[in-house]
Amino acid sequence: MVSYKELGLVNSRELFKKAITGKYAIPAFNFNNMEQMQAIVQACVEENSPVILQVSSGARKYANQTILRYMAQGAVEYAKELGRNIPIVLHLDHGDTFELCKSCIEFGFSSVMIDGSHHSYNENIELTAKVVEYAHKYDVTVEGELGVLAGIEDDVKAEHHTYTQPEEVEDFVKKTGVDSLAISIGTSHGANKFKPEQCTRNADGILVPPPLRFDILKEVEKRISGFPIVLHGSSSVPQDLVKIINVNGGKLKDAIGIPEEQLREAAKSAVCKINIDSDGRLAMTAAIRETFNLHPEWFDPRQYLGPAREGLKTLYRHKLVNVLGSAGKA
Ligand code: G3H
Ligand code: 13P
Ligand code: ZN
Repeated sequence: MVSYKELGLVNSRELFKKAITGKYAIPAFNFNNMEQMQAIVQACVEENSPVILQVSSGARKYANQTILRYMAQGAVEYAKELGRNIPIVLHLDHGDTFELCKSCIEFGFSSVMIDGSHHSYNENIELTAKVVEYAHKYDVTVEGELGVLAGIEDDVKAEHHTYTQPEEVEDFVKKTGVDSLAISIGTSHGANKFKPEQCTRNADGILVPPPLRFDILKEVEKRISGFPIVLHGSSSVPQDLVKIINVNGGKLKDAIGIPEEQLREAAKSAVCKINIDSDGRLAMTAAIRETFNLHPEWFDPRQYLGPAREGLKTLYRHKLVNVLGSAGKA
């Protein structure tokens, strides 16, 4: 058993408290390789932002849990070396079993998500409460989820949103003891969050998706005032990146995300953690495809992973400053 405290990591409790009062959200960026980790740390150090380094169970399988653990420890040391001891949380994204959450806690994670949203309400409560009971012994914070996002989460695919029912949140939070709650208000995972027929066109011909259900968010906030809320599926799918991918041989069709102004609005409320993964994937892929196209003779991975890391860093800095509002808050 290794405690996250020995690795220099922090749990999310204090960060969320400050984020709610300060009307901003903490970035939760997914990572599974070195370049992503470096880009996240560089961006957060340069913008003086706290950060949640997020690992899905797929990422854990891909990169190996021991390696990820040392990478997170490396991230803490790297941030210091770059000149700022920013708060870093190592968080399990979409944990689906008690055993997985327990194993992550034993490997040095400071925060876990137990996603029981695909179970019945009572089973979700039972599973979440069990994880909370174990995690709190080690001062590890726990995120639960109520409501189901449309799209793909690891191996689970949902065709439609099941919006969070505000009448359930108070009971769920009380019975489980969770530290934060992910809710479903119209965001979804991946780069194809809406079908074009669900969108309208603005004066410039750009597709505008239906707005997030701020009415549900407000109702949730009313019932559990001051409680930390989490938004998953919050990539905006920047159209300039989609274009770079497609003019350089990519084939992304109908890629539509959540408008950044809506996420900025949400970050000013009790939403204090915003999950972004797909936008990072787009930034890396755009840089790599462009580099391959411009320099077909290059074959040293550093020649294309270097620009990919730069592209990621630019994207993350933009999110911290213009979307989450977490810049300057470390
Ligand atoms: O919520 C899903 C995250 O984007 C992680 O995706 O399971 O493919 O690593 P992944
Ligand atoms: P995106 O696919 O919108 O980036 O969402 C990521 C996420 O919610 C990770 O848990
Ligand atoms: Zn998610």
